[in-house]
Amino acid sequence: MGSSHNILTRASVINSIEEVRLALAVHRRQGGRIGLVPTMGALHRGHGALIEAAARNTDLVAVSIFVNPIQFNDPGDFKQYPRTLDSDVAFCESSGARIVFAPSAKEMYPEPQKSFVDVEGVSEHLCGKFRPGHFRGVATVVLKLLQIVQPDRAYFGEKDAQQLAVIRRMVRDLNVPVEIASVPTVREVDGLALSSRNQHLTPGQRAVAPILYRALQLARERIADGVRDPEIVKREALDALRHPEVQVEYLELMDPGSIQPKERMEGSVLVAAAIWIGGTRLIDNVLWNGV
Ligand code: PAJ
Repeated sequence: MGSSHNILTRASVINSIEEVRLALAVHRRQGGRIGLVPTMGALHRGHGALIEAAARNTDLVAVSIFVNPIQFNDPGDFKQYPRTLDSDVAFCESSGARIVFAPSAKEMYPEPQKSFVDVEGVSEHLCGKFRPGHFRGVATVVLKLLQIVQPDRAYFGEKDAQQLAVIRRMVRDLNVPVEIASVPTVREVDGLALSSRNQHLTPGQRAVAPILYRALQLARERIADGVRDPEIVKREALDALRHPEVQVEYLELMDPGSIQPKERMEGSVLVAAAIWIGGTRLIDNVLWNGV
């Protein structure tokens, strides 16, 4: 079959800020709505769900692939982060993206960054407590990407519930003209949320990993059963996480918008946890919607 018969529309891979702005300006002038999916690459079906949602609801999807140095508090973690650009580009194409923006660190940070976005309160608990500076790095790079691409909509996964809350709050507080869309967590059949970190698990550890989602679901069931004391719900979920290979970093019941502790079980409750299995950190969450 000749290339003109390809079913897929090839994606343009663009490395420079100036070029991506030019390419998108042409499209914008023609009235097309632009969707942005920010990623750090090593793409999997979780990212795929974001790209597909963007392709359904906007006219042109740009995926950014950038392993953002300023959001890693551990330099070893940054170095180790998988970089698989060629297969990522093919994945973006088959999921419906037309532009892949893959800048270098020099392109994004030509001189040391001196301006940062701190989203107070929302960044304080959960991952924010254990990864100091992480959400400052995330909010800063996401604002930069929103300024570069100027999308009508930007897509984020519910898997990273605190990140989603931080970005929603930043966009409101700083009047960024973009609509933030969220996409439900994509899971393996046994419940484990897809993550680029899952590949670091040994087969034995991989078999243990679904314990996280099971414990979160248990917490949600107990809330739905009518348990109104957050401490009781937490204790039962922590019991469910007891396993020789599992170390719990946190398990908390939070308000999903403000990411502050829930003292009474009213409105929605975000049950969020981070655990370590060996050297691999896994996070996940479930939402209870109040009825
Ligand atoms: P990354 O970890 O590559 O994730 C990119 C997006 O994919 C995030 O919005 C994340 O929530 C979503 N995602 C990851 N796994 C998912 C799953 N199993 N189901 C649904 N969505 C999933 O998050 C980041 O990159 C970075 O912090 C970034 C926002 C790009 C800023 O650097």
